[in-house]
Amino acid sequence: MELRPIEPDDGEALHAIFAEPEVRRFLFDDVAPARDETQRHLEAAREHGGWAVCDDGEIVGLVSLRPAGGERELMIVLSRRCWGRGIAFAAAQAAMRHGFDVLKLERILASVDLPNERSHRLMRRLGFEVTGESAGPKYRLRTYEKRAG
Ligand SMILES: CC(C)(COP(=O)(O)OP(=O)(O)OC[C@H]1O[C@@H](n2cnc3c(N)ncnc32)[C@H](O)[C@@H]1OP(=O)(O)O)[C@@H](O)C(=O)NCCC(=O)NCCS
Repeated sequence: MELRPIEPDDGEALHAIFAEPEVRRFLFDDVAPARDETQRHLEAAREHGGWAVCDDGEIVGLVSLRPAGGERELMIVLSRRCWGRGIAFAAAQAAMRHGFDVLKLERILASVDLPNERSHRLMRRLGFEVTGESAGPKYRLRTYEKRAG
């Protein structure tokens, strides 16, 4: 697993990943994004310093600490073919290390659709604590935080 800065040319690869049924199910409330929407996500992630997740030099996902109301929220997505190998765990840990050590964040937030069991398992493995629940566009969300230190 390697992280590198996102590049404008990553649009095609990310678009194919976003369109995978098991990826879009929770990430986009089951509606595959249009190509220009993918590009907007990519540009937004580039602006706040997100990373392409690579495996053997090939882009397989995206991880970022996206701005959320003056704080930062962990967002991670991986192609279905790479699930179950600890790649997301390693990528999220690297992004969080950057958040705490370089950006000097006091905490990192996350919010996960209630039925997204795989993501809840990832949050627990990463040491996030549940802070509550809130309404989401399709599902209710479980909210998390991970504090520095
Ligand atoms: C959320 C998502 C990134 C999690 O991916 P993942 O592959 O399940 O996560 P991990 O990298 O932590 O891998 C965990 C699995 O690998 C196994 N594993 C193998 N080697 C491992 C290692 N070295 N370290 C950790 N886990 C390892 C774990 O046992 C676990 O297995 P399990 O699925 O049977 O429980 C992925 O499901 C995804 O992209 N979903 C769609 C997008 C989405 O919903 N994102 C959430 C928005 S925040």
